[in-house]
Amino acid sequence: MPVGAEQSAAPFVPDDRTLPVLQEAVQHCQGCDLYKNATQAVFGELETGAKAKKPKVSIMMIGEQPGDQEDKQGRPFVGPAGKFLDKCLEAADINRRKVYVTNTVKHFGWQPRGKLRIHKKPSMKEIHACRPWLEAELEAVHPEIIVCLGATAAQSLLGSGFKITQSHGKIHEVEGFPPIIATLHPSAILRARTDEDRQRDTKIFMDDLRRVTEFLKK
Ligand code: URA
Ligand code: SF4
Repeated sequence: MPVGAEQSAAPFVPDDRTLPVLQEAVQHCQGCDLYKNATQAVFGELETGAKAKKPKVSIMMIGEQPGDQEDKQGRPFVGPAGKFLDKCLEAADINRRKVYVTNTVKHFGWQPRGKLRIHKKPSMKEIHACRPWLEAELEAVHPEIIVCLGATAAQSLLGSGFKITQSHGKIHEVEGFPPIIATLHPSAILRARTDEDRQRDTKIFMDDLRRVTEFLKK
């Protein structure tokens, strides 16, 4: 990329907005520097039927970025956060097979700590650079509602000033998008310092997911 040029995935996103085509193309993206240290790009997917050209999706859930496991396996939400998410979806009576999961940025950004790869929050520049992929996924998937998991996803779609603590669980109408609701990130819940905090955050998360269930029933 020329020095000083704005970072963007746009030149790498094909016109054909079907999942298998997008999934292949994202592996070649160099829209920001995050691809450099990642094993592979991790695109969104439906648990089943990801190869379908027009999948039936009720919810698109957007996390932050692939984690260590996701980076190695090439699939979103397959590590501890994903397992927790699956349990909560079931408890909220949400059919996991109609949930498309993806991330705000598609490459794992990390820094070494000993032998571990510790995730590094993506910058606003990286979030912005990767948005064309998110937009392409929305066109391919057409969800009835978007659920942002954590501040990174919420800030990508609802503005950099968005605060989860203040505005989680509310339905936001943004032109050109299906309704958007934001809630806590499952990894943040798992990282809670005390059992008490974890229980409180899990309850907030479940209450927000139940709002999604109610919305889908209407
Ligand atoms: N956390 C995320 O935000 N996304 C994943 O895919 C896994 C963990
Ligand atoms: Fe492209 Fe997004 Fe990866 Fe950056 S994080 S290289 S914009 S796919």
